Amino acid sequence: MSFKVAPCANLEEFGQAVFAIGQYFGMEPTEERMERFSRNLPIERMHAAREDGAIVGGAGAFPFELTVPGAIVPTAGVTVVGTFPTHRRRGVLRAMMRAQLDDVHARGEPLALLWASEDTIYGRFGYGMASVAAEVSVPKEHSAFARPLEREGKLRLVDADEALTLFPRVWDRVRRTTPGMLGRTRNWWEYRILFEPPGGGEEGPKRLVVLERNGRPEGYAIYRHRMKWEEGVSAGEVQVSEAVGLDGRPTAELWRYLLDIDWAAKITASLLPADHPLWWLLATPRRMRLRIGDGLWVRLVDVGAALSARAYAGDGAVVFDVSDDFCPWNAGTWRLANGRARRTTSSPHLRLDVSALGSVYLGGFTFSQLLRGGRIEELRRGAAARADATFATVRAPWCPEIF
Ligand SMILES: CC(C)(COP(=O)(O)OP(=O)(O)OC[C@H]1O[C@@H](n2cnc3c(N)ncnc32)[C@H](O)[C@@H]1OP(=O)(O)O)[C@@H](O)C(=O)NCCC(=O)NCCS
Repeated sequence: MSFKVAPCANLEEFGQAVFAIGQYFGMEPTEERMERFSRNLPIERMHAAREDGAIVGGAGAFPFELTVPGAIVPTAGVTVVGTFPTHRRRGVLRAMMRAQLDDVHARGEPLALLWASEDTIYGRFGYGMASVAAEVSVPKEHSAFARPLEREGKLRLVDADEALTLFPRVWDRVRRTTPGMLGRTRNWWEYRILFEPPGGGEEGPKRLVVLERNGRPEGYAIYRHRMKWEEGVSAGEVQVSEAVGLDGRPTAELWRYLLDIDWAAKITASLLPADHPLWWLLATPRRMRLRIGDGLWVRLVDVGAALSARAYAGDGAVVFDVSDDFCPWNAGTWRLANGRARRTTSSPHLRLDVSALGSVYLGGFTFSQLLRGGRIEELRRGAAARADATFATVRAPWCPEIF
């Protein structure tokens, strides 16, 4: 069975296509919700799969600016991918991935990026696990810092309007140097980050705090209180949904604030980078109760353009023999030298699938790790380590939100 896949033409089609994933979330695609969602996901970037004219699946792609090592690159942020349960395992996803990646390629976006609901879905389409996300739960009694902290900033709870002017100033400074972070438009801030459904929803209101010094914002956090009492003693939680600060003292001050909030027995956060400063700030990092899972998945849609877009630590040449069954225009031998990737007839140093290039692209994993994991082949001794020196980055990729 082949399914016809085309971009949505109007809000009604958009709602039906989003409803494919909505089924699994138990979400109704009300007009109000779809109108809000379409402020960030342009209607024509939502593909719908049809059978006999009826929509049976949907896949969207946000037009993002993604920070990669040393550069900012237009990137398709793949989202709301779903097949109606009535049509599962009949090729709907495959047809949607085909149409979507062809569209991304035609638009000239060299990368596609996503969070996977399951780690078995996207490798076949050329995506590679590219970062890790750390979930932490810090017990209040083990939240002391290793070193005394000199406070210089002022903390202030703000409302959403003020957050809308202050938070982006911090985000923009941090995201420019942090691979994995995304540019955010005003609509993104307003309708995705700061939005609260009327009545506050089930989870309790978002609390918004800003850290300022000399009247300038240096950090902010968004969190919720989850109150609970057990035998008269508070067993509640402060759930941090986003805490972003400039490097050094501002980040430390922000976390000190969050860790010190009274009545919280623990402080939790779920999308931290592998190298988060809490490891070094806390006196007892072992007590963080850390769980690490896959984070971003990256696909090089145009291998030449993507490899040429990022910066490198060294100019050592690496020659790759790339296979790419799903996007065959990428397959072949590529030579990366002086920051430029070009097709070559030289003999390759490493043989790999395009998904492996996605895994190393942001600096979250190394060629040596993939070699040890049996995912790439070394055709010249020491080639993986030499490629690692070229691809080395100073910080782990971090994407503080699931989109
Ligand atoms: C995941 C989902 C979109 C798959 O859609 P589908 O239309 O059933 O997938 P297809 O029939 O096109 O399958 C394409 C290939 O992926 C494989 N596949 C699909 N879903 C898979 C899964 N969950 N785990 C492992 N493999 C999967 C199929 O076996 C098939 O393999 P093949 O090409 O080797 O034959 C669908 O199950 C779904 O909507 N799930 C719930 C929502 C969700 O998880 N969406 C992803 C959000 S990131």
